[in-house]
Amino acid sequence: MKEVRIIDLPKYEDLRGNLSFLEEKNHLPFKIERTYWIYDVPGGMKRGGHAFKEQKEFIIALSGSFDVLVSDGNTKKTFSLNRSYYGLYIPNGYWRQMENFSTNSVAVILSSTFFSKDDYIRDYEEYLAYKKHE
Ligand code: TYD
Repeated sequence: MKEVRIIDLPKYEDLRGNLSFLEEKNHLPFKIERTYWIYDVPGGMKRGGHAFKEQKEFIIALSGSFDVLVSDGNTKKTFSLNRSYYGLYIPNGYWRQMENFSTNSVAVILSSTFFSKDDYIRDYEEYLAYKKHE
């Protein structure tokens, strides 16, 4: 579980407002193939209850806040994301769910792979079986 970690990003503050950025090589432990974002989440909804076999990802709360629940099949950990100058790195092979989205929150996810529905494990029992045979 220690591979799953918050990565801090640069933050430039001045009177005109704040600016943050990330550079693939300098801040992320993978090459970015795809970016997607989740927004307009109705109150109480949960997203992303699944694991990826190959996809590594970096999740930023660009606006608002939400929680990311991560499990490796044994240990569970909850990360609360609520600032745009850091994000959560999740390597492949972890179960993760996103919940408690605040109104108008925006999650941006940088992914190491192109979209492939075959990369998903959407059933938790199946995930546990997958982890056993890894
Ligand atoms: P899904 O992964 O089920 O959302 P969540 O991560 O919240 O569980 O994605 C919802 C739909 O969007 C699903 O039909 C697949 C599609 N989709 C793409 O076509 N490309 C993408 O990059 C992503 C992330 C999803």
